[in-house]
Amino acid sequence: MTFTSDVCYGNDNGLSALLKGYSALIPPLHLKFPLHCSFTEVHTFLLHQVLLDPHLKQYPPSGRYQLSFWKWAIGHLERMDKYDEDAEIDTRIYDRYLSLMSGPIDRSSPPPDSYVTYYWKPPSPLGSANQNSHESITLLESRTTIESGTTGLRTWCASFVLASYLIANPEMIHDQTVLELGCGTGFLGIVVATLQQKLNECHQSHHQSLPAVLLTDVNSGVLSRCRDNIRLRCNQSSNHQNISFSTLDWFDSLSLPLSENAATAFLSKASAGVVIGADIVFDPSLVLPLVATLRLALSFESTRMAVVALTVRNEQTLTHFVTEAGEQSSTCVVR
Ligand SMILES: C[S@@+](CC[C@H](N)C(=O)[O-])C[C@H]1O[C@@H](n2cnc3c(N)ncnc32)[C@H](O)[C@@H]1O
Repeated sequence: MTFTSDVCYGNDNGLSALLKGYSALIPPLHLKFPLHCSFTEVHTFLLHQVLLDPHLKQYPPSGRYQLSFWKWAIGHLERMDKYDEDAEIDTRIYDRYLSLMSGPIDRSSPPPDSYVTYYWKPPSPLGSANQNSHESITLLESRTTIESGTTGLRTWCASFVLASYLIANPEMIHDQTVLELGCGTGFLGIVVATLQQKLNECHQSHHQSLPAVLLTDVNSGVLSRCRDNIRLRCNQSSNHQNISFSTLDWFDSLSLPLSENAATAFLSKASAGVVIGADIVFDPSLVLPLVATLRLALSFESTRMAVVALTVRNEQTLTHFVTEAGEQSSTCVVR
């Protein structure tokens, strides 16, 4: 499942897939060039909606990715039938490619961090009257699996799945303080903050302050990246006045006596209505502390439910988690 699949631009004839692929750094190998479109259609789209798009100019994909994308796109454009003999590839496209080729791109080192933009469409009651309108989420992300010893600097698939679930069921978080465990880059935080703002507008409660979004992680580098992403001016979350970033280590939930540990103090003060977490079940050694944290959170009257989305990489880890978490009837695991 790709989170970007919901985006739609007018009569979508496959061109928007180019934009979605480019902005989400999908390798050209996995992109489909819209050969059924005319040269003029594809060329105009690539020039104006991709190359010259103001948002993508400000938050561009890494130079390394752009180089591979434009090489692929130019190759296809050059091979296309041109009904108009004079039709040519705009020099601005060639110039971009050539400037990337002569730039400092080091292929021997891991891919550098990059801006990534994902698109989504709010459900009808929350969307704008314009059927073609869409929301975007932009993040500075790592392009490697593990960077600086953490998996939290890139957005994982489970986040897209949980985001889709929340977008389809926005009432779940209406008027609720939402607490995220292992928040990573801030992708889900941006979705939650945007939905809360839209719910507020939709229920015409502009005068009411927005419910809190509490983003937590164990890693300080991850938390600071998350904060920077949430505050990017292009993200609607940057207008949300009630988002906080806190260190919460699930291992704290195992310290006895429970009533005196740091996790109890934090969760009691947080008074969250809904707890969420994506791809936080990945390491067998974290299952007990994570379940202890979920159990602790759910022990507070204010907390109605916890929703966890995960990727099954190892059936044993999943079984371990489900067995430990199974005691909690209000824990819903989205697979
Ligand atoms: C696989 S990443 C998922 C990040 C994000 N939720 C996503 O889906 O993109 C796992 C996250 O759990 C965090 N984490 C790992 N151990 C933790 C712990 N003991 N307490 C709190 N967070 C932890 C990591 O720092 C990382 O951000």
